Amino acid sequence: MIYLDNAATTIHKPPCVVRAVTEALTSLGNASRGAHEGALATNRLVYRTRRKLASFFGCPESEKVIFTCNSTEALNIAICGTLHEGDHVITTVLEHNSVLRPLYRMQNERGVSLGFVPADKQGCIDYADFERMIRPQTRAIVCTHASNLTGNMLDIRRIGRIAKEHKLLFIVDASQTAGAVPIDMVQMGISLLCFTGHKSMMGPQGTGGLCINGDIEIEPLKTGGSGVQSFLTEQPREYPTRLEAGTLNGHGIAGLSAAVDFISQTGIDVIRAHEQELARTFYRLITGIPDIHIYGDHTSDERSPIVALNIADLDSAIVADELAYSYGIATRAGAHCAPLMHKALGTQEQGAVRFSFGFYNTIGECEAAAEALRQIADRRVL
Ligand SMILES: Cc1ncc(COP(=O)(O)O)c(C=O)c1O
Repeated sequence: MIYLDNAATTIHKPPCVVRAVTEALTSLGNASRGAHEGALATNRLVYRTRRKLASFFGCPESEKVIFTCNSTEALNIAICGTLHEGDHVITTVLEHNSVLRPLYRMQNERGVSLGFVPADKQGCIDYADFERMIRPQTRAIVCTHASNLTGNMLDIRRIGRIAKEHKLLFIVDASQTAGAVPIDMVQMGISLLCFTGHKSMMGPQGTGGLCINGDIEIEPLKTGGSGVQSFLTEQPREYPTRLEAGTLNGHGIAGLSAAVDFISQTGIDVIRAHEQELARTFYRLITGIPDIHIYGDHTSDERSPIVALNIADLDSAIVADELAYSYGIATRAGAHCAPLMHKALGTQEQGAVRFSFGFYNTIGECEAAAEALRQIADRRVL
């Protein structure tokens, strides 16, 4: 199989990640639940990984790196844990349902009002819209670092400056960029960074996190066992325990820790350059195919390695099935959990076929995928 669905999850993990999870499965106890070697080993692993992630994302305090099971959970904590009755939030039409649904929930349950920065036909936004939409009740800007549909990246530093100037909370969904693009929360002005471990971080599924920059009061989504202060009737208030009820995914965290080491040792710039080259090569090879429609702004280098497209009016699911079953090429079709982005692109009905590249892909695979697409476009009727 040629795997080109890395924006959904990376299938190929570094060997050190596989080893770390395998070893963890036979050695880890429960962090903060005991003083025997198994529990202490897990405590040490969790502590080390928090520090590693804090340094990786430029989060000033490692105890404010919260482990979650994915970015969806991190986004729910960030959004539902900070917004109050009557708040106004600015977001964008690029967002994934993991941002939109918690926001709609806050709209219904707490009367939070929402403003959406629009996008043009290429999925690009006008940054001045953030400024234009700010009102006295505006409490937060919530936005993605990169669209999981078009691959367009947002200038987070620029939005961070606007948020800082207006004293707004800045919540960033880094699901598509964490591990593939350098992120520094302080330099970029990010208040809350939500990431997932199983995409470009190349860690196991079931891992992710929320990084908190500064003194931000966040109400927990879950309460429960913490291994400390057992006689308190409510969740302990200190971070990270405040937001981490229940047993942590120690086995996953072991893999995530190894994944961060792998990225650091390989060099995030090396990873990014390779993935960019793959996407650019594929884009160049397919641009001449008759009736191909490619979405997103490919004139900029500030992109995620994603190429989303359609062939004439063919249903995207039919094209993706043909790629999978006749050519062994894995892509993703359909609506990509980004309903407002599809509306902006005019692809609600057709969806789009998304090719997303990862560190373990090769130029040869890009060439094979481009050739398969050319043949499908030539035949047209499937
Ligand atoms: C932009 C974006 N946000 C959020 C998510 C949710 O990630 P997870 O399913 O790991 O929580 C995804 C996953 O596809 C995504 O692409």
